[in-house]
Amino acid sequence: MSDTVLSQFKQTVKEEKKETGRKLKVGIIGTGWIAESHVECYKQMPDVEIVAGADLIPGKAERFFKRYGLENVRCYPSHKEMLDAEELDAVSVCTYNRQHAAPTIYALEKGVNVLLEKPMCVTTEEAVEIMRAEKKSGKILSIGFQPRMDNNMKMIKKIVDSGELGKVYYIQTGGGRRRGIPGSTFIEDRTAGIGAMGDIGCYSLDMVLNAVGYPKPLTASGYISNYFGTSPLYNGADSKRFDVEDFAAAFVRLEGDIVLDFRISWAMHLDTPGDTVILGTRGALRIPSTECWNGSVGGPMILYHDLAGERVETEIPLCPPVPHGLFYNKIRSFLDVVKFGGKAPVPTSQILYNQAIIDAIVKSAKLGHEIEIEIPEI
Ligand SMILES: NC(=O)c1ccc[n+]([C@@H]2O[C@H](COP(=O)([O-])OP(=O)(O)OC[C@H]3O[C@@H](n4cnc5c(N)ncnc54)[C@H](O)[C@@H]3O)[C@@H](O)[C@H]2O)c1
Repeated sequence: MSDTVLSQFKQTVKEEKKETGRKLKVGIIGTGWIAESHVECYKQMPDVEIVAGADLIPGKAERFFKRYGLENVRCYPSHKEMLDAEELDAVSVCTYNRQHAAPTIYALEKGVNVLLEKPMCVTTEEAVEIMRAEKKSGKILSIGFQPRMDNNMKMIKKIVDSGELGKVYYIQTGGGRRRGIPGSTFIEDRTAGIGAMGDIGCYSLDMVLNAVGYPKPLTASGYISNYFGTSPLYNGADSKRFDVEDFAAAFVRLEGDIVLDFRISWAMHLDTPGDTVILGTRGALRIPSTECWNGSVGGPMILYHDLAGERVETEIPLCPPVPHGLFYNKIRSFLDVVKFGGKAPVPTSQILYNQAIIDAIVKSAKLGHEIEIEIPEI
């Protein structure tokens, strides 16, 4: 028998997940609001030891870990000091958007695996620099989009991949709130860099782009505004320091003859700018929006298709929640790859396109016309 025939019967050796018993040494960069969710999840994992943390605000990291009963965590005044002093397996980068690139690049240069909070960063240029550092380091870098762990999100992708929709040619996505402008570090260019798009828009982009295989974005015609954020009537004292967008809309062309109609809002005189809709040549999917858009599915999805020559609608019931919750699973899936090998659960090769769309919307809005999206080689 030829080797080709014999190889059909070769037993595939399934890689065993080998526990070494050694705890993963983890550090937290930025001990603000979202770092709480990271620490709460890490604390539930017996194979993790949080050994270090850093925050630019003096005493903040110390107070943070004390609150969690983690008094032996070594605290540092910035990511740099921490990464210079510690031998870590992984870090959670929980800093505001403008401080996503520098700590991530520095950690990768130090040979540390990184779980970077969403959005990936602020600009395409930063995303490219991050990916170059990732490539050079050979380390794992995953972006913190926990809705990816949601079975409803997986269902959207399953439906698209099944061919039920045929060839997808149009996507409408986004969402928003009638009133829901955050405060803190989210509303200043100095710290956030991008507003509603970095906070919630990146989630809706990820939901649909992941479903259709993250096609390359080609052009964008974008609009951004901040009428509500800068108004004392709607945003009180925060209106004085508000200088990011609270609303964005765009028409984006994607590779493969797909157009993306996108809008996102922190505040407007409307409950929602619409459900997410994916139109294909054989069917369409309606994904209900949520009140406070956070990247989740707002109710049972409807598949519109033809059956035996009749137009029918199939309701897709909501999937049950995942055990331990989405956030835990986002961290666990990252750590499992760090321990046992494999690919980043939410890879930069995809999120680069998410970032490039946001960046192009900002640039196009400033220029007042459609622009080509250029992404440098990594
Ligand atoms: N995945 C989610 O569900 C989710 C939810 C909320 C926020 N986020 C993301 O998390 C990030 C942080 O949001 P937040 O609300 O926790 O912000 P925050 O302002 O409460 O906390 C950020 C902290 O990082 C510190 N910091 C900044 N640069 C630093 C550096 N170089 N070294 C050490 N510390 C540094 C700041 O001093 C601050 O304490 C944002 O990018 C946001 O988009 C994700």
